[in-house]
Amino acid sequence: MTATPSPRPRVLSGIQPSGHMHLGNYLGAVQKWVEVQDEKECFYCIVDLHAITVFQDPKELLEQTRGVAALLLACGIDPAKSALFVQSHVRAHAEGSWVLNCVTPLGWLERMTQFKSKADKEKQRTSAGLLTYPVLQAADILLYDADEVPVGEDQRQHLELTRDIAQRFNHLYGETFKLPKPLIREFGARIMGLDDPTAKMSKGSSGTRGHCIRLTDSEDEIRYALKRAVTDSGREIQFSDDPEKAGVNNLLTLYKLLTHKSREETEADFSDARGYGDLKKAVADVVVEALRPIREEYDRLISDPAELDRLLAIGADKARALAEPKVRLVKERVGFFVPG
Ligand code: AMP
Ligand code: TRP
Repeated sequence: MTATPSPRPRVLSGIQPSGHMHLGNYLGAVQKWVEVQDEKECFYCIVDLHAITVFQDPKELLEQTRGVAALLLACGIDPAKSALFVQSHVRAHAEGSWVLNCVTPLGWLERMTQFKSKADKEKQRTSAGLLTYPVLQAADILLYDADEVPVGEDQRQHLELTRDIAQRFNHLYGETFKLPKPLIREFGARIMGLDDPTAKMSKGSSGTRGHCIRLTDSEDEIRYALKRAVTDSGREIQFSDDPEKAGVNNLLTLYKLLTHKSREETEADFSDARGYGDLKKAVADVVVEALRPIREEYDRLISDPAELDRLLAIGADKARALAEPKVRLVKERVGFFVPG
């Protein structure tokens, strides 16, 4: 291992600038990113190269890239503590991913469930980029010798693949990459859609009203979505693994994570509730209060794009300082002529 040993564990994670950030992103990943900033050395990447694996309107992509940056800062990512940067600003990601593509067997990629479900939706328009998407993700992580990768449950398979790719490269070319560990929380790693608690809350085309809560939603939109949240015909307000109770479980999870209460305290808060209406109202109150400061800070940040760009440029400099020497080492390992 040639990277400078770091006294603190190094964390890296990424988020796509496609669609709008929602409560699933926040509770499954970003809340944790904010929490670990004090004890760990953190790198947070806005993955625009990943976003274009499915077509993005160029104007919207540009807007969303700044939008996600502003939202991450508004959620509490502190540029003085963490490196927040845009993936395409650090060329090493694209270079590294090419080399990793060449050590990754096709069969490994064809097995990825996220590829299979997205490719099904896209049919013949599926891009080659969608297939090699997880290799680029592996490059994002491995170029930083990240120890930990805080993500939602849907990324578990990609993290396993990252470790497999690292091991294969190390085996073929000598010890080069560290094997990263996923950091997946027990509660909140899979926030479900409010309109359908059997489907993950997502940014995609299912952005129908009432499916997800975006971090920038107004109080009315939040209350509307929660009032209509799908539950079941019972009355019991308790955490449960029963698929029938997925809707209630999801609402309790939102409440627990946003109030920072324990499982027992959360259930106790609803022991006198008269029905799911009380639960929905309480969750809506908590969500509205939690998102209010984020939305206000977002409005302030987004109105000053020059300042955002300045912060992202600082983040990219910090990222390049690690990723560039690492990609140089990778090139040397495979036998490229690397000019002095
Ligand atoms: P993405 O929006 O796909 O770039 O995801 C960014 C981060 O949010 C990743 O760590 C995902 O695993 C996480 N994430 C996305 N959707 C959800 C969800 N519904 N529940 C929990 N985590 C999620
Ligand atoms: N694939 C991740 C997602 O959709 C985003 C991502 C890209 C990522 N590169 C990463 C996550 C590196 C963690 C580490 O959520």
